Amino acid sequence: MSEIVGDNVVELDGVEYRFEWPADKTLLQSMLDAGIPAPHSCQMGRCGACRVHVEGPQTRMRENHVLDDFDVEAGDRLACQTLRNEGDLTAAELDYPF
Ligand code: FES
Repeated sequence: MSEIVGDNVVELDGVEYRFEWPADKTLLQSMLDAGIPAPHSCQMGRCGACRVHVEGPQTRMRENHVLDDFDVEAGDRLACQTLRNEGDLTAAELDYPF
């Protein structure tokens, strides 16, 4: 059974949402499963439509054809490719760049 961290928070279009982020699901899928209208398109790490700033847990991306090292170092992630590191139970706080 995968670890689930609840109480992750994101604001979109002035609405604050809270959602669970299991360790075996991407950030985007976790938001979509919670009914959050998270922006996305290709879901392959190629378009950047799902770009979001992540504060909190240590994460990794499966694929990244958009963000450079500076973006990643600053905390930006492609939500469709981002997994929370196993064992890190820190809740995430997300910011969209619009
Ligand atoms: S939806 Fe295209 S990079 Fe994530």
